[in-house]
Amino acid sequence: DHDAAPLAAQSDLPFEETLAKIRSLLPEKLHRPQVGIVCGSGLHTLAAAIRDIIEVPYASIPGFGKSTVPGHKSALAFGLIGPGEGVPAVVMLGRLHPYEGHKLSTVVYPIRVMARLGVKNLIITNAAGALNKDIAVGTIVVIQDHIALPNLTGMNPLLGPPVGPEYPRFLPLSAAYSASLRRLAFLAAHKLQLGRDALAEGVYAWVSGPTYETPAEGRMLRNAGADVVGMSTIPEVLAGKEEGLEVLVLSLVTNMVVIPDKYRSIREEVEAELAGKAVARRAEEVVSHEEVLLIGKQKAEVMKSLVEKIVDLIARA
Ligand code: 6GU
Repeated sequence: DHDAAPLAAQSDLPFEETLAKIRSLLPEKLHRPQVGIVCGSGLHTLAAAIRDIIEVPYASIPGFGKSTVPGHKSALAFGLIGPGEGVPAVVMLGRLHPYEGHKLSTVVYPIRVMARLGVKNLIITNAAGALNKDIAVGTIVVIQDHIALPNLTGMNPLLGPPVGPEYPRFLPLSAAYSASLRRLAFLAAHKLQLGRDALAEGVYAWVSGPTYETPAEGRMLRNAGADVVGMSTIPEVLAGKEEGLEVLVLSLVTNMVVIPDKYRSIREEVEAELAGKAVARRAEEVVSHEEVLLIGKQKAEVMKSLVEKIVDLIARA
């Protein structure tokens, strides 16, 4: 006789302690942030958009992991964003990735905490490589959908017992990327006169990292319909949706993914050499984290004004 025991709720999440600690460090006016923001690689300069900022290091927050990636700070920033009184916001200066060794539940814990603080809208930024040749380096891609091989193959961030009995077991993702927030992104770009090429729309492919994808993997993801590829974000999107948030993802394209039309044939080179012909050796293209951080730095100002304007539009909506 199979008496299915109900799954116990995730019991290792110290929400009460976390919230008490955070609230103890904040003035009353920052206790209920409306908007949550996650800063991707090289994008923690978004902090410059925050007034009356209070930074709380992850190390001092119960349940939080520490980001170990260069270009990521490890602090939660609270403050006001936008004109006038400003909108109370909470900003992750640096995110956690599964490839750092963090449990998936740890990676998404800050998102669940944001939801409990009162956040309704979540804006996630990241640095990504372009698979689509029509999307240039420096473009900000408004994500409309995703392909997440890890989710389909046993590394789904929502695997395991639910956080609580009120949580959905089978979360639908057919409308994961808020159409109303995507509209605000394009309206904001228009108001800022960024130019039509500054923003694009596309599909994000999540790979677990820490290795970059091979050229063959890049081609596979492109053929599958992805426009950009990166090692983050999807865990936060899933937790955000599970917590009932409106989610917007902005990917800054920091490099073009190397997808050769044709592999250079080493056999043909050797055969040519043996036949006494001169063979020009081509340099191999490789992506580097330094390149990713550099473009992040160059475009940080644009990303900052865009996010600021979107937050302003959210507050007026
Ligand atoms: Cl995951 N791949 C490539 N090729 N470039 C990137 C990236 C990934 N993330 C940022 N830039």
